[in-house]
Amino acid sequence: DKPEAAVPKLLHSLSKRFLPLSPTLPGPFSLPLLGNMLDLAQDHLPIHLTALAHRYGNIYRLNCGSTTMVILNSSEIIREALIKKWSDFAGRPHSYTADIVSGGGRTISLGDFSEEWKAHRRVVHSALQRCTTDSLHSVIEKQAHHLCQVLRDYKGKAVDLSEDFTVAASNVITTLTFGKTYDKSSEELQKLQDCLNKIVSLWGSPWISALDSFPLLRKLPNPPFSRLMKEVARRDELIGKHIEEFKRSDHKEGGTLTSSLLQCLEPPQGAANQMTLTNTHVHMTIVDLLIGGTETTAALLNWTVAFLLHRPEVQNKVYEELCGVLDVRYPQYSDRHRLPYLCALINEMLRLRPVAPLAVPHRAIRNSSIAGHFIPKNTIIIPNLYGAHHDPDVWNDPYSFKPERFLEDGGGSLRALIPFGGGARLCLGEAVAKMEMFLFTAYLLRDFQFLPASKEEPLPDLRGVASVVLKVKPYAIIAHPREQ
Ligand code: HEM
Repeated sequence: DKPEAAVPKLLHSLSKRFLPLSPTLPGPFSLPLLGNMLDLAQDHLPIHLTALAHRYGNIYRLNCGSTTMVILNSSEIIREALIKKWSDFAGRPHSYTADIVSGGGRTISLGDFSEEWKAHRRVVHSALQRCTTDSLHSVIEKQAHHLCQVLRDYKGKAVDLSEDFTVAASNVITTLTFGKTYDKSSEELQKLQDCLNKIVSLWGSPWISALDSFPLLRKLPNPPFSRLMKEVARRDELIGKHIEEFKRSDHKEGGTLTSSLLQCLEPPQGAANQMTLTNTHVHMTIVDLLIGGTETTAALLNWTVAFLLHRPEVQNKVYEELCGVLDVRYPQYSDRHRLPYLCALINEMLRLRPVAPLAVPHRAIRNSSIAGHFIPKNTIIIPNLYGAHHDPDVWNDPYSFKPERFLEDGGGSLRALIPFGGGARLCLGEAVAKMEMFLFTAYLLRDFQFLPASKEEPLPDLRGVASVVLKVKPYAIIAHPREQ
């Protein structure tokens, strides 16, 4: 370039680099220093962000310290960012605390978009696909039968089923990863679940997120953060022990995800371009699958039963459909096309209570735009899936529980249902979760009628508690066996 052309070129590239967010992007008043921290510290963040969308529109901004976030609240806008412009928004924010919980960004869920991340995701995706084709159906069937037996053993007593749902979902993942299942009373399982749950809930707390936006706070004592560090160390010790045990066990020859991943530690000779996983990658993949695949599915089952208590006629309709189509046999996943009402129920649950309500934050990896607004590189994008699923422009009477909506107009709104996100960051366990939801729900509603714990007690609260996972508040129920 001629020297006289270099200056405007430099100015142009600088201005592109430091361009502010589109000035037309609306958002609530941002306090000096604190920004919109008070909005972000609300107890049910998805509901709060959805309420803000009614005031500021389906795309608005929030500030947190020096970080700007853009909140997307309609399925059309979320699809534009995550699917149409996936290569602009496939990044994850770099943060101090995410690095701590993800072994320096080596999980799939929190790792930033890079060649290493793409290869890691590809390896895990194909290993998971192999397990899905080979054994997933029988693994879930076995757990569904076991879950029904556990419920029968309660003999009509009023109980909280959340732990049983967690054990069933967790056993699906531990069978796929290690070829192992655990009993509810297993100390090993309890320790691992307890530790993973604590990490998720501590990491979602505002005391800890504040450390990402306000680095000076890291110098002050912070008991929740110390607890998080302790739980991360405990998790790594427990998973490390599992991997070592697995390497010594009979399962290491094949069939499980861990065996597939361990093979990638040593690529075949001559495969120079093949991604070599490190032990940390294998370790963090197991963490990812256990966290991503346990509480999500369990929470959705728990929500389903809670909603069914409010609308008992829906469970009777599913039961009649199952009996009409299958007579007395248990369903297979291939029966789903003949069970439209059951599928409508599952879709309605995924819509009303998307268990990952704010997905996982994305990061713009280059300057781009969403809905015509300029979005500079490094902006954090929050897909508010809860808001999109309650968008009154798309869903008729969006706050009502109406499985029938998916049977009307040829299920026309299905395109607007995005509980698993989309694009490069689409939930890695979508296929696993869909088969689990179908088989677990079908088995439960075939074998049981769910009744309130007593006439005096109020029905379950349907607002829920939102952290990284959206859960229903604890409630008790009677699982009354159906006559077959
Ligand atoms: C990511 C939803 C079950 C593993 C996600 C995301 C959502 C989601 C919304 C974030 C997508 C984004 O960043 O845009 C759900 C729901 C589930 C479920 C609603 C059940 C009903 C599972 C299961 C597994 C799993 C069973 C494992 C077997 C993952 C992983 C990621 C992820 C590893 C990170 C993907 C990435 O960053 O590339 N999930 N999930 N999830 N999920 Fe799921």
